[in-house]
Amino acid sequence: MSIINKAAAIGGGVIGAGWVARLLLNGIDVSIFDPDPEAARKVGEVMKGARRAYKQMLPDGLPKEGKLTFAKTIADAVADADFIQESVPERLDLKHRVLAEIDLYAPANAIVGSSTSGIKPTDMQVAMKKHPERLVVGHPFNPVYLLPLVEIVGGQQTFPEAIEVAKEMYASIGMKPVVIRKEIEAFVGDRLLEAAWREALWLIKDGICTVEELDDIMRYGFGLRWAQMGMFQVYRVAGGEAGMRHFMAQFGPCLKWPWTKLMDVPEFNDELVDLIATQSDDQAHGLSIRELEKIRDDNLVAIMDALSKQNKGKGWGAGALHKDYTKQLAKLAAKKPASSKAADKAKATKPVKAKAEKPKKKKKG
Ligand SMILES: NC(=O)c1ccc[n+]([C@@H]2O[C@H](COP(=O)([O-])OP(=O)(O)OC[C@H]3O[C@@H](n4cnc5c(N)ncnc54)[C@H](O)[C@@H]3O)[C@@H](O)[C@H]2O)c1
Repeated sequence: MSIINKAAAIGGGVIGAGWVARLLLNGIDVSIFDPDPEAARKVGEVMKGARRAYKQMLPDGLPKEGKLTFAKTIADAVADADFIQESVPERLDLKHRVLAEIDLYAPANAIVGSSTSGIKPTDMQVAMKKHPERLVVGHPFNPVYLLPLVEIVGGQQTFPEAIEVAKEMYASIGMKPVVIRKEIEAFVGDRLLEAAWREALWLIKDGICTVEELDDIMRYGFGLRWAQMGMFQVYRVAGGEAGMRHFMAQFGPCLKWPWTKLMDVPEFNDELVDLIATQSDDQAHGLSIRELEKIRDDNLVAIMDALSKQNKGKGWGAGALHKDYTKQLAKLAAKKPASSKAADKAKATKPVKAKAEKPKKKKKG
């Protein structure tokens, strides 16, 4: 069960709405602030997609959804939240303004997570004058309501206790928190993705393959391996009986061969953008983004479901987590709605606040 009592989402675009969906579908009340007049409609679209995906995971019924409130200001949105997730556009000046305001009005013991794809938390928490120690990066992957991974990164002022509480909070809504040991730009996931993206841009620009062929090379080949074993375990197996050492001896020398253009970046001009955008339109065969989102969600649920049956029924990788998460949601769905008094009492006894209030020691190094 979730240990989050009340959540606030600041920013309700692609990622913010994904957080809202995951939280509401876990029965948690969310207050959202987004100045976009279209925000309610956009969040509604994402909620529709998320409900549809969760119904496939839980054919016997979903848990009672949390209540969504659209706040008029950041102050109103965060006033009584114990978990706040910031998902505004990736600009440091904007992150500073928004985080300063969250910090000013949020309860002192609330955890603040930022969805940033690559800005270091140390560079963001300087704007928080009251409690910078409770900021963590909580970097998710789209669609947030389905993909379990969240990279947690602390800054120089972040207390280790805040990282621990954040980890528990994310895990309690079915996620797989991975704490990144050292603070770097783009963390781990986006650093890897950026490397692959650079190579992909070269391959298209140089006319080696089209965007569709490149995607086929991923999804019919190593993409399937990555989804269930990652990179290193796959290579270990690829080394045959001698395992990783043999694999490294065999492929180590290629690092010196011209197998990569990684150090060089193609000029990102209109010509390259047109080339990729046109090929991408052809690849979509007229399917709209919303239709593609449905296909993506169905595929993700099917992959995680298939993985949940592996390993003698115990589940494997993301599938094992998926199995536990769907069990947790089914239990929540089966629970009779508690009377509001009983619910309030139950919430008041949850340990999160006491734990979050504690942070005193500064993170070393
Ligand atoms: N799109 C992705 O795949 C992805 C993945 C992981 C993390 N992220 C990160 O998540 C964050 C949000 O990205 P996104 O893709 O959802 O962007 P987006 O443009 O879809 O959404 C941003 C939202 O923030 C709102 N906003 C702007 N100013 C605001 C303010 N002052 N207060 C509150 N809301 C405000 C906008 O109206 C918009 O709805 C970024 O930091 C991004 O790097 C994005």
